[in-house]
Amino acid sequence: MTAFLLNDTRVVERDGDPALTVLQYLRQRKRRTGTKEGCGSGDCGACTVVLGRVEQGRMCYETASACLTPLSALQGKQVITIEDLRQDGELHPVQQAVVDLHASQCGFCTPGMVMSLFVLQKQCSGWDRQQAEQALAGNLCRCTGYRPIMDAARQLCEHPIADSFTRQEARTVARLNALASEVAVEPSGEEQRCFMPTSLEQLVACYLRYPQARLLAGGTDLMLDMAQAVAAPPPTIALEQVEKLRNAYTDNNHIHLGAGLTITQCEQRLHAALPAFAQVLQRFA
Ligand code: FES
Ligand code: FES
Repeated sequence: MTAFLLNDTRVVERDGDPALTVLQYLRQRKRRTGTKEGCGSGDCGACTVVLGRVEQGRMCYETASACLTPLSALQGKQVITIEDLRQDGELHPVQQAVVDLHASQCGFCTPGMVMSLFVLQKQCSGWDRQQAEQALAGNLCRCTGYRPIMDAARQLCEHPIADSFTRQEARTVARLNALASEVAVEPSGEEQRCFMPTSLEQLVACYLRYPQARLLAGGTDLMLDMAQAVAAPPPTIALEQVEKLRNAYTDNNHIHLGAGLTITQCEQRLHAALPAFAQVLQRFA
C-alpha cells in the first residue's frame, strides 16, 4: 500500500507491483500525459516530476526521473507534475518565464525542463550559474539550445515569486505528516510483492521471511532491469521508509552513510570533509 498526495489529492494505491513506475502510473492510470517518456532509462529528463517531502517542518522539493522511480517511492510524499503548475487559469511563473524567454521549441523536453526549473527556483537564493547547470544537468534539449533556457533560470533565481505551493506550505506539511502517521506500511501477506518496512527490525524480519526478495534503494538499476524484463518481477523490499538507513554521522575518523541516502544527500554530507569526492559525485551516473 502506498499513500501520497498527488498534488493536493490524497491517494492510497494498493497495487503492490514492484515493477510499476511512477511514469506508467501517471500516464496510463491517471492519464497525466504531460509527463513525457523519452529514453525510458533515466537519461533524458523528459519524465521529470517533482517530489515534495517534509524536512524539519518545511517542504523540501526534489526532481525525480519518473521512468525509474517505483510507485513505492511516493509513500508519504507529494508528487507534482506539469499539470499541477497552472494556477487560477494563469501559467505558473516558471512556465511564464519559459514562454517569455523563448526557452522551448518542439516542446518535448519542456515539461521535464519546467519541473527542474521549478525545483531550482525553490532552492536558489539568487543567481548561481553552477547551481542552475547542476539543476538542469539531467534534462536534455535537442532543439532550443540552452542559452534561452538558462535565461529563464536566471530570471527565476533573480526574481523569486511566492506561488500557491509556498502559500499552502503549512497545510501540505500537516497533510503529509498526517499521512505518515495514518498509514501503516508494514510487510503483510504473500500477495504483497513490494514490502515497505519502516524499521530495521521489520526489515530484518521481512528479509528473513523472503530471502529471495531484491532490496530496493533508489532503484536506478533494478527498475531498469524490471522494466525491460519479460519475466515476472521478483518481490522487492523498499528501504526508503527505514529511518535508520537515512542516518549520516561521523565518529572518530569514520563517516557513516546510511544505505537509504540518495547520491545528492551523500554529496551534501561529504562536502565539508571530502570536497573533492563530493565533486566527483556530481558526475556520478
Ligand atoms: S524518459 Fe528519459 S529519463 Fe525518463
Ligand atoms: S524544445 Fe525540443 S527537445 Fe527541447
